[in-house]
Amino acid sequence: MSQRTSRSSFGVPARAVAAFVLLLAAVSAHAEASSGSLHDSAMLFIHRCAQCHTVGGGRGVGPDLAGVTSRRDKDWLVGFIQNPDPYLDKDAQAKKLLAEYGDLRMENVHVTKAQAEGLIAFIQSASQTPSPELRSPDEGWHGFSVPGLLIFAVLAAGTLIVSVFGARRDAAVLAVFCAASAYWAFGGWRYFRLPGDQQGHIPPQPIAFSHELHAGRLTISCLYCHGGAQRSDSAGVPPLSVCMNCHVAVRSVSGAKEPSPEIAKIVAAYDASVSSPTARGFAWNRVHHLPDYVHFSHRAHIANNLQCQECHGPVQTMTRMRQAAPLTMGWCINCHRLTPKDAPSHWKRVGGPLDCASCHF
Ligand code: HEC
Ligand code: HEC
Ligand code: HEC
Ligand code: HEC
Ligand code: HEC
Ligand code: HEC
Repeated sequence: MSQRTSRSSFGVPARAVAAFVLLLAAVSAHAEASSGSLHDSAMLFIHRCAQCHTVGGGRGVGPDLAGVTSRRDKDWLVGFIQNPDPYLDKDAQAKKLLAEYGDLRMENVHVTKAQAEGLIAFIQSASQTPSPELRSPDEGWHGFSVPGLLIFAVLAAGTLIVSVFGARRDAAVLAVFCAASAYWAFGGWRYFRLPGDQQGHIPPQPIAFSHELHAGRLTISCLYCHGGAQRSDSAGVPPLSVCMNCHVAVRSVSGAKEPSPEIAKIVAAYDASVSSPTARGFAWNRVHHLPDYVHFSHRAHIANNLQCQECHGPVQTMTRMRQAAPLTMGWCINCHRLTPKDAPSHWKRVGGPLDCASCHF
């Protein structure tokens, strides 16, 4: 074979591949841009609705909203979410729900029509995902990119075919694109971390909340604030309304003459969220963060009677929350391998799954 023919056969697939990649990148960029508002609605849901509702995580204070968009008329939902009061007073369907929920009325959460529509779009989309339990909003809702996966599949097939026909250089070019698209498909650099590099992570927080004070000295149960751990994949961080259960009255620490400036911040942030429906919710900085391609469920572990401290360390002594465990794959596996002889006796069952699909979808 002459030098020239091998060069031209090198050029064609490479250019075709580049064009294809650009096209799909554009498609993917568009998909990400339009999911931005869904992300905002997810944030809104977590701040305003998640203390009472789950989407697929089971009944909470209010109904599980999975599939509610097919149970109810859209206009009814938009109206109800904006202001449930007139419905709970007069509408037959709402009155029936109210009776079912022991006369506990959904409060008026003050959202605009556009926000209500966004919330409905979000609930609909969350109802469709295979693992609908709510995760923290900053994790993003798109762990991997569908166009990325598509390119990956096409390129992998191409590489295989080209290498069968013996064109080594073409196969090598395709393989490089293939690896790059796999990297992109699974979230790229946004989710990249070195194993174990987050142990000890201790980010600053907007309010100096202390677990040592609340869980330690005041002995408030972990589940009072993180009840999600029993019911869903994620434990969840409590909304400010939970803090206000006490801090509506407690404005200073014992022994101090002046009100606590840290508590004043809670009250101000809470008042802002109540008086202005459009204000973005208050956000804590996330401490623990598994990559999106890992599935972890609090419910499964708590149901087996594992204690929070077995994974999170002595939280009740932490004035500022830190990541005590490495959260690497080896850390999960080592515990799943424990035998009845080594495992703590308070667990109901010993031995977690070791197959890849249990932790990676
Ligand atoms: C304080 C608790 C609470 C909050 C916060 C709350 N809800 Fe509700 N929600 C309820 C309860 C309880 C019901 C059942 C009706 C009743 O008893 O008032 C309900 C009913 C509903 C229904 C009707 C469900 C069905 O099966 O038809 C929808 C939809 C809904 N809520 C959406 C939302 C959205 C969206 C938010 C956030 C903007 C929200 N709720 C915030 C407690 C709450
Ligand atoms: C009074 C409410 C309250 C109680 C009680 C409480 N927490 Fe928290 N927890 C919070 C708040 C608020 C945050 C977010 C701020 C922070 O990270 O300090 C948080 C954060 C956390 C985080 C880190 C979340 C992340 O971003 O990764 C863990 C883990 C945690 N709590 C575990 C526990 C455990 C275990 C207990 C019981 C020993 C407990 N908490 C008791 C309110 C509470
Ligand atoms: C088997 C180990 C394990 C146990 C037991 C456990 N956690 Fe976690 N926890 C984790 C891991 C792993 C993450 C990170 C999850 C992620 O990033 O998706 C986490 C994250 C969290 C977070 C922050 C993210 C979220 O899920 O909302 C909180 C809050 C939390 N845990 C609280 C608790 C509380 C409270 C308990 C006890 C009731 C508990 N955890 C028990 C392993 C555990
Ligand atoms: C069950 C009641 C209760 C709940 C719920 C509660 N706190 Fe507290 N908190 C207290 C009490 C009581 C004190 C004062 C302790 C003392 O006297 O030293 C306090 C003190 C504080 C302080 C100390 C301020 C300082 O100047 O040292 C901060 C900050 C605080 N709380 C934040 C929060 C946040 C944030 C939440 C919600 C996640 C919350 N608290 C939920 C009861 C509660
Ligand atoms: C301290 C011990 C311990 C650690 C650490 C631990 N697990 Fe587990 N896990 C268990 C035990 C015990 C079971 C079995 C529970 C049962 O059979 O009910 C289990 C069960 C599971 C299951 C099956 C239940 C389900 O959700 O369907 C999954 C998945 C899982 N663990 C994932 C993880 C991941 C991911 C990590 C690391 C981020 C992890 N685990 C860390 C002890 C642990
Ligand atoms: C018990 C849960 C669990 C099981 C079972 C499991 N993994 Fe993982 N895997 C994890 C966690 C957690 C991480 C994230 C580690 C990190 O971020 O440091 C991970 C990360 C990875 C990574 C990314 C590389 C890295 O180390 O960061 C690959 C690749 C991987 N797993 C492949 C596999 C394969 C193949 C299997 C089956 C043989 C498997 N996993 C089984 C929990 C699990």
